[in-house]
Formats: sequence, structure tokens, C-alpha cells
Amino acid sequence: MDFRKAILKVREANKILIVSHYDCDGLCSAKILKTTLKKEGKETKIKIVKEISKDIIREIEDEFEKENFDLIIFSDLGSPYLSLLPEDKDIIILDHHVPENIKVPKNIILINPYLENKELCGAGICYLFASKINQNPELIDYAIVGAIGDNQAEIGENKKIVSEAEKIKRLKIEKGLKIFGHVNRPLHESLKNANFFPLNTYSEVVQFLSDINLNQNGKIKSYYDLSKEEKEKLLLEIIKERIRNNLEEPANIFSDVYILTKQPRELMDALEFSTILNAFGRLERYDEAFELMDGKLEKLEEIMLEYRKKLATYLSFVAENMNSFPQTENILFINAKEKIDENMIGTVTSIVINSLTNKKIVLGFAYSGDMVKISARSKIERVDLNEIVSKICEKLGGTGGGHKEAAGGKIEKGKEEEFIEEFKKIVEK
Ligand code: C5P
Ligand code: ZN
Repeated sequence: MDFRKAILKVREANKILIVSHYDCDGLCSAKILKTTLKKEGKETKIKIVKEISKDIIREIEDEFEKENFDLIIFSDLGSPYLSLLPEDKDIIILDHHVPENIKVPKNIILINPYLENKELCGAGICYLFASKINQNPELIDYAIVGAIGDNQAEIGENKKIVSEAEKIKRLKIEKGLKIFGHVNRPLHESLKNANFFPLNTYSEVVQFLSDINLNQNGKIKSYYDLSKEEKEKLLLEIIKERIRNNLEEPANIFSDVYILTKQPRELMDALEFSTILNAFGRLERYDEAFELMDGKLEKLEEIMLEYRKKLATYLSFVAENMNSFPQTENILFINAKEKIDENMIGTVTSIVINSLTNKKIVLGFAYSGDMVKISARSKIERVDLNEIVSKICEKLGGTGGGHKEAAGGKIEKGKEEEFIEEFKKIVEK
């Protein structure tokens, strides 16, 4: 990726509007850009958005004129909607979504690893860009968290950033147990959620820990708090228990744990950090997200509690109505209407495909004013969701885009069934 033109544009500008996506990767992108540009003496403002649409572009244009900005940087979004962007303003796009297939307009500098057949998350692109402007090694943490948030840390160019972070000792990768909440969740809670073998209640988990002499003496510890010997013992006993239960691949319980060595304990597990940022984003607590990244943790617990409650309600709704949703052998359509918040439908769809169904493709539909927000996730290699979702959305007068295995879009209310029929037709073909 060639950043030269973009750097020149930034040097010329005084007041820069950063428009970024509301998910973890987008929030990390904005944090990196803001910190870097501020250090250069630039005045900046961050605007976090859920998507690009005509209305949002109009808002951005108004803000641009009223507050006398001289440059817009779009991060972690923008590429799929090149023809919607303003034509008379200087624009830099630092994004990894599949670009709209048109000639890039003259006022836009598009930097996108997709154009070079490479994979790098939005925050990774922003980090590379930022490190050509000034040196802020601590910002690499956000490139890592962005990559984890987008499920890309072990893919393509992201791996180079991961290695760099290890080299400068801001990141330590440990082989650990495949659970969520390595550092900040009590071990019995992480274990119960992990489903390594049937453990139905917390007391069963506590009993298991006590049987293997890992009883925590009344203190609630996380996986991270165990000694090396205790961790080894736990891993071994889980594998034994899986063998006893005749489970397939009994040793399939490991995953890499990304520890950010310089972050406070609450944020040092990059996977937990990314979940937190996604939660703040989905609840539209953007200011609090940036405060959190500045080290202010006061709101963390309250916001995560709200998020978990909402998510639990939505997941129960899906579980209870699973059989009544439209479906084929391979595809599930969660037609949630007003029952699931449009901001959360993507997260719900991801969780459902990963742990609540055997279907290979899951789509979620949630009301969004007069429109319906669509989220799509696939585990079938040959299916390109970006292509399919953007094509159908466009045909139905809406917009859509994203990546091969995860895409989203918006159509008018009432067109869900038409969308579902079109989708089935294309995928079956
Ligand atoms: O919203 P959701 O999480 O389902 O989005 C999945 C992917 O598709 C994300 O990377 C998102 O940025 C992208 N997307 C898009 N255009 C939309 C909706 C989602 O490019 N209108
Ligand atoms: Zn991204």
C-alpha cells in the first residue's frame, strides 16, 4: 500500500474530520488516527457511523461546511460506496471492505489492501499509515484489537503487525484454553460457557475444579490467575474428561491468547478488549469507548452488564423461535422484525452461526425505522456474501456490502421475503 499521496494531503490539511465505523475495528481505527493527527498539531473530530448512506453523507457534508474542515478521512468504511461520497471535498479512505467497482473519483485517495489481494483490518491500515506520519508504538495495541475484532489476527498482513507487536514486547501470545474471558472472567464461568464436556450448572463446574484439586479456596480466580502447573493440570483433566465422554477430537481445546502487556488488567486480553469495544459500539456509547481507550474504566462494568442483558434476551428469542424462522437445509433466516435491535443483529447472527445452529449460512433481519437491517454470515467457502448481498440489496433499491464471509445491508421494510427468495435462488444455483 502506497501512503505517499495520503500523507501529503494530511500535511496540507489543518482540520480533519475522521469518519469511522462503529464496530471494534472502526473504533480502533479512529483512535489511531486521532492520536497521530493530534500529535502533528491537526485539529480533528471523530464521527462514528453505522454505515454509509445518502442521509449520512448529507450530514457529513453539512458538518464539513459548518465547521470548516478541509479533509475527510473515512476509516474501516467507505470503499463499497464510492459513488455516494462527496465529489467536491478532499477524501482519504483507509478501508478493507470490497470497493465499489467504479473508477476511483479524482478527489478520493483510496487505500485498500483488497486492491493488492491482501488482507489487513481497518485499524492495521490506519496503524501503518500512522507510523509513516509519526512514531506511536503504543498504537499497535489497537491494530491488534481491531484485527481480533474482525477475526483477522491470524490472516495475511495482520500477522506482520502481530509479530511486530511481539517484537516490541507490547504483545505476548500464550497457548491457552479455548475459552472466553481468560483474564477477567471467573474460571468456572468461562468453563461453563465453553462446553468442553457436559457441565450443566455452576456447582458442577465448581465440583469438577475441586475434584482436580483446583478448588479456588473461596477466591474467584480467572484462567490467567492460575499458576503454570495449575493450567497444565486443568488442560490435562479437561482432555481426560472429554475422552471419558467419548467426544470427538478430545484435545481440541486450545487457542492462542493475545495478552497486551501494557494495558490495564481489564483490557489486557485482546479478545476481551475487542468484545468490550464491540459492545460499546453496538450500544452507541462512542464517547465512552474513546474514554476507555484513554484508560478511563469507570463505565466499563455498567455498560457491559447492559450489553450482556440485551444479548441474552435476543439469544433466547432466537432459541425459542428457531423452528418458526424461514430456513432451508443450509440456510437460516432469523426474521426478527422489531424483536432485535438493529445494532445487535450482526452480533446475534455471528453467535447463532458459531454456536446455536448447524446451518452453514445465517441471515438476520431487524427493523431499522422504515428499513430492515440485514446481517449475513457464511461458512461455505464458495459463497461470496459480499457479492450476493450487495446485488440483491441493489436490485431491491437498497444498499449492501462487506466481505465474502460476512456482509450486511439495508432494504425497505416489507421486502424481506423477496430478499429471502432471491437469496435462496442464488445460493442454490
Ligand atoms: O452489520 P454487519 O455486522 O452484519 O456487517 C458485516 C460486514 O459487512 C461488516 O464488515 C460491515 O462493515 C459490512 N457492511 C457493509 N455495508 C452495509 C452493512 C455491512 O459494507 N450496508
Ligand atoms: Zn473492519
